[in-house]
Amino acid sequence: MSVDVAIVGLGYVGLPLAQEASRVGLKVLGFDIGQRVVDGLNAGRSHVDDLSDGDIAEMTTAGFEATTDASRLRDAKTIVICVPTPLSEDGGPDLGPVVSAVTTIRDNLQKGMLVILESTTYPGTTDEVVRPILEETGLVAGTDFHLAFSPERIDPGNEKFGAKNTPKVVGGQTPACGDAAAAFYGQFVDTVVRAKGTREAETAKLLENTYRHINIALVNEMARFCHDLGIDLWDVIDAAKTKPFGFQAFYPGPGVGGHCIPIDPNYLSHNVRARLGYPFRFVELAQEINATMPAYVVQRAQNILNEDAKPLRGSTVLLLGVTYKPNIADQRESPAVPLAKQLADKGAVVQYHDPHVTDWRALGDRAQRVEDLAGAVAAADLVILIQNHREYDVDALAATANRFFDTRGVAAEGEKVSRL
Ligand SMILES: NC(=O)c1ccc[n+]([C@@H]2O[C@H](COP(=O)([O-])OP(=O)(O)OC[C@H]3O[C@@H](n4cnc5c(N)ncnc54)[C@H](O)[C@@H]3O)[C@@H](O)[C@H]2O)c1
Repeated sequence: MSVDVAIVGLGYVGLPLAQEASRVGLKVLGFDIGQRVVDGLNAGRSHVDDLSDGDIAEMTTAGFEATTDASRLRDAKTIVICVPTPLSEDGGPDLGPVVSAVTTIRDNLQKGMLVILESTTYPGTTDEVVRPILEETGLVAGTDFHLAFSPERIDPGNEKFGAKNTPKVVGGQTPACGDAAAAFYGQFVDTVVRAKGTREAETAKLLENTYRHINIALVNEMARFCHDLGIDLWDVIDAAKTKPFGFQAFYPGPGVGGHCIPIDPNYLSHNVRARLGYPFRFVELAQEINATMPAYVVQRAQNILNEDAKPLRGSTVLLLGVTYKPNIADQRESPAVPLAKQLADKGAVVQYHDPHVTDWRALGDRAQRVEDLAGAVAAADLVILIQNHREYDVDALAATANRFFDTRGVAAEGEKVSRL
C-alpha cells in the first residue's frame, strides 16, 4: 500500500481534504471519473474557489497525483469518498454517485483498508448501502476492513474556518473502525469529535444544515411581515444579536442556494417519510418559505417600479451577483436563477453583472451580461443586489441607480434604496 489516502471525488470537498492530507506529508492519490477534472489537476489547474493553482502545485510537489484509473485504489491504506449526493427527479435522495463510487472501491478493496464516506446523506447509508456493497467481496466490515462516516463541513469561501480547524465528527461501524478513522483525521485536523456510530454522525450533519435552513426560513418569513408593518428587520436582528446567549443571527435573502441548504434537509425529511410514514414538518415548511423568496423579490421589484409609474414588462432590471453566496464563483442552486426567470417571464429586460461569473447560462440568451458596471447601474430602471461580492461598493452603486433594491441589508438608507 504505497498510497496513504485515496480521495474519490475531487470537488469542493475532496480537493481541500487532499490539500490538508498532503500538507502533513501523506501520499495522496485523487480519483475522479471526470477526465477533464483529472487532466486539469495534473496540469496544475484548480477548479474550486478555495484552492489556487499555486496550491495544486504545492500538492503536486508533495506527491499528489490525480487519476481516472480505479485499479490504483488498491494501493491505498485509506479511501475517502467525497462524491455528490444530489436529489433525484422526485426530490428524494439520489445515491447513484455514492453507489457507483463504492462499487469501484469494492472491486479494489484490500484487507486492512479504512473506507470513509464523507458525502452528506441520510441516516443508515453507511451501514445499509455502503457496507453491503463492500462486503460482496467476502471481507467483513469491522473485522477485515474499517468503515466509518465523517461528515464534511466545509464552507467554501470561509476565510476563517477550513478543513484543518473545523472540528471533524467521526462515527465508526464498530468502535475500532471509529478509532481508525479518528487516528486518520487526527494527522491533519485539529479536533476530532467521536460520534457513537455512523448513524449519529450522518444525522449530525443533517441536523446542522436543517437548523440553518429552518432559521433562514424564519427570518425570511419575518422579512415579509416586517416590511408590511414598516419595521426594519435588519435593525431588529442587529438588536437581537447583542444577546450573548440563546440567540444566533440569521439573515433574510432572496432565497437559499448552494449544494447543502436547499438539498440536505430533503435527505432527512424524505427518509423520515419513507421509513416512518410521517412528515418532518419543520423542513417542509422551511422549504416552502425559502422556495418562494425569489417570487417575493419579483413582487417587491414590481412594486418598486410601480412607484416610478413603470411596468415590469419592458423595464430593465440589472441583477448584481448571481452566485449562491458572496465572493465565490459557485452557482449551484443559486436563487438568482428562479428570480431572473420570473422577471424575464414577466417581460423585464434582464441584465446581470458578476465579477466571478463570465458565462451565465441559466437563462440562455434571455439575460444579458453587462461589462460596464457603472454605466449599466445608472441606465437600469431597477438594480437588485443579490450577492454582496466584495468587489461591489454598494453605497456608491446605489447612489447612481434609478432604483436600488438591496436583498442583503447592506446599503445605507436613501430615497432610491429599498431593502428586503
Ligand atoms: N460543496 C460544499 O460546500 C459541501 C459542504 C459540505 C458537504 N458537502 C457534501 O460533500 C459531497 C461532495 O460535494 P462537492 O461539493 O465536493 O461535489 P462536487 O460536485 O464539487 O465534486 C464531486 C466530484 O465527484 C466526482 N464524481 C462523481 N461520481 C464519481 C464516482 N462515481 N467516482 C469518482 N468520482 C466521482 C465528480 O466528477 C466531481 O468531480 C456531497 O455529498 C455534498 O453534499 C458539500
